[in-house]
Amino acid sequence: MRPETPRALAVWVLLEVERGGRAQHLLDRALDRLSWPERDKAYATHLVYGALRRLRLLDFLLEPLLRRPEGLPPEVRWALRLGALEWLLGKPDHARVSPWVEEAKRHHPRLAGLVNAVLRRLAPREAPECVRLSLPDWLCEAWRAFFGQVAFAEGFNEPAPLFLTAYRPVAGLRPGPLPESYLWEGPKADFSALGFQPQNPASLLAAQLLEPEPGERVLDLCGGAGLKAFYLAARGAEVVSYDLNPKRQEAGRRTARKLGLRVDYRTQDLRKPIPERAKKVLLDAPCTGAGTFRAHPELRYRLVPEDPGRMAALQLALLETAAQATEEGGVLVYAVCTLTEEEGEGVARAFLERHPEFRPEPFPCPLPVLKEALGVYVAPEGGLDGFYYLRLRRVDSRA
Ligand SMILES: C[S@@+](CC[C@H](N)C(=O)[O-])C[C@H]1O[C@@H](n2cnc3c(N)ncnc32)[C@H](O)[C@@H]1O
Repeated sequence: MRPETPRALAVWVLLEVERGGRAQHLLDRALDRLSWPERDKAYATHLVYGALRRLRLLDFLLEPLLRRPEGLPPEVRWALRLGALEWLLGKPDHARVSPWVEEAKRHHPRLAGLVNAVLRRLAPREAPECVRLSLPDWLCEAWRAFFGQVAFAEGFNEPAPLFLTAYRPVAGLRPGPLPESYLWEGPKADFSALGFQPQNPASLLAAQLLEPEPGERVLDLCGGAGLKAFYLAARGAEVVSYDLNPKRQEAGRRTARKLGLRVDYRTQDLRKPIPERAKKVLLDAPCTGAGTFRAHPELRYRLVPEDPGRMAALQLALLETAAQATEEGGVLVYAVCTLTEEEGEGVARAFLERHPEFRPEPFPCPLPVLKEALGVYVAPEGGLDGFYYLRLRRVDSRA
């Protein structure tokens, strides 16, 4: 693939996403290989994320102007959606229409007239809220019922700032919303070599809630490549990180070496018990990811209504292992990067019913709260991912 313009690259990425690819992965890989000016790379990124974040709304705006949109060749359909995105964002016709007509013409010359006519006739249209937010109806309605509003989802449609966690003292970077979290405003760099780890503050908070002490043993369950393990190790904890996926752990080992941090990795399916216990246990469970729609905008169209319940069953099985691994008096933090009721409060209620030896332990949340009950849902605003955290204390049976 050799795209010659940011528009051509955007259309190629979007076609691949339609075939099941992940936008972030496709775009990062393509841009790393191109020696384009930063401005062109930023434009291609803006087009891809913009179209996916507003997809339902764009189709709604185009609907009155097209007889059978699903019958159009996919390249032409994306050119129309991207032209509609730029209309929505206020780009004037003279700068917007002909580039998209040219893009469509490269693939299907006989449809250039149609693209030209449609892009010139776009007109404002009042969209229902779930369409305006480009959310699937089932999720939009479930969120409205559970949170009492769904306006928070507008946060997913804003550009994503790059947050870093710093493992050494830093000067000159804009502080993020948590200690050790910063905003990176320059071009991409070799962050590990600088002692930084790209990490959303909402993900960092899960590790900070454990309040690790130097020398303390911490179990990092579902640790993946170890983002949270790095923070814990940098605070002086002795971290053992468990995960099912040895490839992720190998990547983690390499980053830990670059960062000069020590993490022990063990590969295991955590639906089965582990042979050790600790006073501090973190379970960063696999989930539907419905708090990460800003960085993974296509995910919202791939989830189905059964997914949250299916993930909750797995999360409860993993929590059993985490509970057994928590010593009396110890702390167990359960975190998921999603905002569904099933995977947050639903899991908390089901777990606490079965485990009277655990109590939810409230904590002052330093990030904007969307809802607080047994645990806390953090709102996806200001570039934060949406997350759910539950902090549990294993109560001493003699207390
Ligand atoms: C949310 S990700 C973890 C991210 C990681 N803690 C971090 O901060 O970088 C969930 C992880 O759960 C792991 N996982 C999924 N099912 C598992 C299972 N049955 N046993 C162990 N790990 C599992 C996945 O491989 C994935 O790395």
